[in-house]
Amino acid sequence: MKIKKISSANGVITVPGDKSISHRAVMLGALADGTSEIYGFLMGEDCLSTIACFRDMGIDIEVNNEKVVVHGKGLHGLSKPEKILYTGNSGTTTRLLCGILAGQSFEAEITGDASICKRPMKRVTVPLSEMGADINGEYCPILIKPSALHGITYETPVASAQVKTAILLAGMYADGETVVIESEKSRDHTERMLGAMGANIHSEGLRVTIGQTERLKPQSFKVPADISSAAFFMTLAAIMPDSCVTIKNVGVNETRTGIIDVLRDMGADLTVDNVREAGGEQIADITVKTSELHGTQISGEIIPRLIDEIPIIAVAAVFADGETVIRDAQELKVKETNRIRAVVDELKKCGADITETEDGMIIRGGKKVHGGHFLAYGDHRMAMSLAVLAQKAEGESTIDNVSCIDISYPSFFDDLYSLGEQSD
Ligand code: S3P
Repeated sequence: MKIKKISSANGVITVPGDKSISHRAVMLGALADGTSEIYGFLMGEDCLSTIACFRDMGIDIEVNNEKVVVHGKGLHGLSKPEKILYTGNSGTTTRLLCGILAGQSFEAEITGDASICKRPMKRVTVPLSEMGADINGEYCPILIKPSALHGITYETPVASAQVKTAILLAGMYADGETVVIESEKSRDHTERMLGAMGANIHSEGLRVTIGQTERLKPQSFKVPADISSAAFFMTLAAIMPDSCVTIKNVGVNETRTGIIDVLRDMGADLTVDNVREAGGEQIADITVKTSELHGTQISGEIIPRLIDEIPIIAVAAVFADGETVIRDAQELKVKETNRIRAVVDELKKCGADITETEDGMIIRGGKKVHGGHFLAYGDHRMAMSLAVLAQKAEGESTIDNVSCIDISYPSFFDDLYSLGEQSD
């Protein structure tokens, strides 16, 4: 698709609901005793895959414009699916489902699309097996048979909220206590939501403990706008001339705000206003204006707090003076695509000075870049990052197969073009 360009970005927008929280609201709502309502649910393909899987396990889920209604049947109320559970492109659905299915009294199989079938699953099957689960497989399809679970203390080798959550979900079905200890703190939405629902869970620093749980209380979930989606417009406003964009009601849970810290560190004119609480999460309005960006260093504990934003941070770095070095980000190799390789290959096409490293990349920014014929690799965040890059690059750009954007942000181009007049 040829990417239409705007010359500057101005306006107030609300990006769609948080993907991580939307998945969890459906899953935990399905396991609660009674009816939960979800407001601000992300109607992206990944979250719709989660709904489909739970419908296949007998959960009645109503979807309408205003809300999603999940008729939960309790922790032991799911029924055996008649077919293989299909998780599409969604790593979160796949890994979290492993944790839930490990505790069920029926056999089930999970698989997804070509990308999911290449993503590593041992990171969840190993700890779940240690808990006594009958689950195997390095890759999808994964077969899970009924088995009694017991609590374990598990130190996760990589900071991953999906792994942590899979273990905690299984922990609700396990005898004794289950403890997850992380090397760095990953997003903590599960802990917050389970706590509010009455699970026997507590967190202290990098350690989360959950005990066997009898029942979860249904909730009225309010999903904040997804900071990972807001990141595209935060970056766009910073790199485009004469721009000012406000993104409303964005989730600013501190396990997710690495993008704010990095953009500020790069010199962005960025303000976070009207910070308040909604549905157990902090939300705020974020305003970014045209900025003179400079390079930065990104590594260590901040990485899990911005793991999904690295492709768009790389775009910001292309337009920033000086060098940006991203390290400790080897996890990017096992996302929807190898995001280190994909970012480096695509940004090179527009003339950017960028080098791939073992665990990240080095970008020497501030040089003129031109449009190109880009590939998205079926990866929604690659496609949106390249669409932002195309706005500022000289000349014309095309991106193959932008439909993958529907995975997390179906209205992305509508929101982009609401911010400025399009020209060809
Ligand atoms: C997610 C956790 C992260 C993130 C993904 C969503 C979640 O993955 O990249 O988009 O909802 O728990 P990892 O757990 O693999 O780091």
